[in-house]
Amino acid sequence: MHRVSVNVTECWSKGYEDVQKGGLLLNSISKDGKPNSMTIGWWIFGWNYMGKPMSAVAVRPARYTFTLLDEVEEYVVSIPNPGTEEAVSYCGRASGRDVDKFQETNLTIVESAHVKPPSIKECFANVECRIYYKQRPPHSILSPQFRKLPLEEQHTIYFAEVLGTYRYT
Ligand SMILES: Cc1cc2nc3c(=O)[nH]c(=O)nc-3n(C[C@H](O)[C@H](O)[C@H](O)COP(=O)(O)O)c2cc1C
Repeated sequence: MHRVSVNVTECWSKGYEDVQKGGLLLNSISKDGKPNSMTIGWWIFGWNYMGKPMSAVAVRPARYTFTLLDEVEEYVVSIPNPGTEEAVSYCGRASGRDVDKFQETNLTIVESAHVKPPSIKECFANVECRIYYKQRPPHSILSPQFRKLPLEEQHTIYFAEVLGTYRYT
């Protein structure tokens, strides 16, 4: 298998198209090495300080992913290719607490280049991220309707440095 760099602009345009359709995949890993993936419909990605790309995802405390992001402060955002729709939908319904989502889907785990959470072979691009700051609620960047939720149900936002963007052939 070959690792190929994907242009940040391509990740940006395809990622923003998909995040509004079935969503993207957010891959994380436990401290003892068990990987997981969940579907996300909220992603900030682009160029930040000194031209370096950055990423932000929002995860509710109820998700298993929330626990994993506390254990290993890295994640991969995988931008799906056509043909992965059923797998993406499953990762948005099932929890990694109960099932191994990689076993239950046709998604193939690939070792990432810079971070511990895995990349996914069937994806257009895998955006490798290291968290540098997490904003737990209360915070003000979500829309007012979300700010009305009880604090314990509000998302934590994970800002991250992007270390690489790759696809596998
Ligand atoms: C299209 C879609 C978008 C979603 N976006 C998010 C999101 O941005 N943040 C979040 O916490 N949950 C989101 N979810 C819900 C999680 O994907 C879902 O609860 C998942 O089962 C959690 O998996 P986990 O327990 O293995 O972490 C989304 C679900 C779908 C179907």
